[in-house]
Amino acid sequence: MCGIIGYCGSNHATDILLDGLSKLEYRGYDSAGIALSQNEQRIETIKTTGKVQELRNKVMALAPKNSYCGIGHTRWATHGGVTETNAHPHSNGSVTLIHNGIIENYSEIALELAKVNKFPKSQTDTEIAAMLFSHLYNGNPLETIETACAKLEGAYAFCILFADHPNEIYCVRNASPLVAVENEFGSYIASDMTALIEYSKDYFIVPEHHVAKLTKNGIKLLNFAGNEVKPTMLHASWDADSAQKNGYAHFMLKEIHEQPDSLLTTIMPRIKNGVINFEEEQIPDSLFMNFSNIVITACGTAMNAGLVGKSLIEKVLRIPVSVEPASEFRYGDPIIDDKTLVMIISQSGETADSLAALHLAKERGSKTLAIVNVKGSSIARESDYVLYTHAGPEIAVASTKAFTVQMAALYLICGKIASVRNLLSQEQLHTFIEELSSLPKVIETALQLEPTLKEVSSMLSETSDCFFLGRGLDYPLACEGSLKLKEISYIHSEAYVAGELKHGPIALITDQVPVVAIVTNTITVPKMISNIREVKARGSKILVITDQDMSAYPDVADALIELPKTDELFTPFTISVAVQFLSYYVSLHRGLDVDQPRNLAKSVTVE
Ligand code: F6R
Repeated sequence: MCGIIGYCGSNHATDILLDGLSKLEYRGYDSAGIALSQNEQRIETIKTTGKVQELRNKVMALAPKNSYCGIGHTRWATHGGVTETNAHPHSNGSVTLIHNGIIENYSEIALELAKVNKFPKSQTDTEIAAMLFSHLYNGNPLETIETACAKLEGAYAFCILFADHPNEIYCVRNASPLVAVENEFGSYIASDMTALIEYSKDYFIVPEHHVAKLTKNGIKLLNFAGNEVKPTMLHASWDADSAQKNGYAHFMLKEIHEQPDSLLTTIMPRIKNGVINFEEEQIPDSLFMNFSNIVITACGTAMNAGLVGKSLIEKVLRIPVSVEPASEFRYGDPIIDDKTLVMIISQSGETADSLAALHLAKERGSKTLAIVNVKGSSIARESDYVLYTHAGPEIAVASTKAFTVQMAALYLICGKIASVRNLLSQEQLHTFIEELSSLPKVIETALQLEPTLKEVSSMLSETSDCFFLGRGLDYPLACEGSLKLKEISYIHSEAYVAGELKHGPIALITDQVPVVAIVTNTITVPKMISNIREVKARGSKILVITDQDMSAYPDVADALIELPKTDELFTPFTISVAVQFLSYYVSLHRGLDVDQPRNLAKSVTVE
């Protein structure tokens, strides 16, 4: 949610900023801008509405003077519409800055500033922050940042240029992410490592309430007292290639195809001598012994993975699990205590609602276990324990590989609880682990469905409404399929447990409303067939996604996707490949921007 980048060094800043913004564009793409520090205490700002390419065109046309230090921003609008005035960077007096986050008390600060006749030009909270920094500026950036931050409430990552400190960038954050690297060509800072990986794989996360000062000679990390602090270095285990399309038409397509690898690297290091082993993660077995119930909290696709986890754990282990959207959990006074294991699932590890849910769970004394993809992210750092998924960077806004590895992590946890609590026989556990280990291969096979899914996607590509139906473990996949479709194809889509349709929603079924029916839950196959017939009788075209033998029901499906056979507990993985391809090809048929759908952004760091 908003991408920010800064560079100071011996190379031209413009190229580095524009390249970095292209890589961060998935965080927001309403407007973009850069500000360049010029030696004569002048800061040149260029910004535009639209995507980074439009900024690039404008920058090239204006051909700004060479600068070796600058900041850049790609915006996902929160306060104020998509206009050039609202685009970042924002300047006031000596201060020019970019911001990722939300300043919650910006209207109070604006009122204070109005008393001294200072009024913003834009509608943004960020300009108010720039005005505050400028108002408080006493020639000492560090002191000013400390005083200003004491007045600011909310989430922020700022990169600030002070005109009288040319060729220096000052960065500070609270909640919103900022990572930094340096190499022989200078120092770099960004919202995440996708923009920086080509410069170095060794990085640090700027600690909250510290200031990172970038110059061409390197980065100084300072506390507010002005003392230098040694950063905690991390190493990225992926390389620049992972954040490229590598010949695929879209990141989403590439990421769908990466799932066998992501599953392999997420599952296999945790299976040692046929046993699920979390020693490397330092997650003790006692964590899985001493709880009475589980609460999973997350947002969007990560929450759908949580729904799969609930069905799985309740079915296999008979332990109660509830799944709460993080945005509700944090304000809903949840019934949790020190006997609850709270699991937080997040690809980015920065989702504001999920982070707040984690804070609440800790406050209430629950043990917290995070399932996170981005190493060192806030949720990973702040939870008691973390089980990383190893999907590598996910760039497409629509989550695919992160979803399947989140499910895999939940299956690992389920197997671990089963073994710690002796809830499955040795033989059952062995079969479970075997099935889990075979997932990369199974998904390889499921990927071969691509041409068929491409063909059947034409059933949905012209529609404006659609339903996804499923029962049992199929229902969370109906939710995920429906979410995926609506977010990248803009088709209105609803997911229902199939039996519920006749209690109201069936009123919406016409011959213009196709239905995707997911049928892998053996005991409910006959019920699903009846539900399908009910909608078919009202004119719907039916796409069935199944691993069942449907020969006894030759008349129910207008199109049939036959999934590779797996153990019944593991069908969510093959189904997810099918619904991912389906939404991808529908979006493609409709000529939409698959990787950067309208109104969305990766990593939702605002409430
Ligand atoms: C949908 C999607 C979102 C995210 C949600 C949570 O394709 O990507 O629904 O799943 O915003 O994000 P994370 O997992 O980063 O917390």
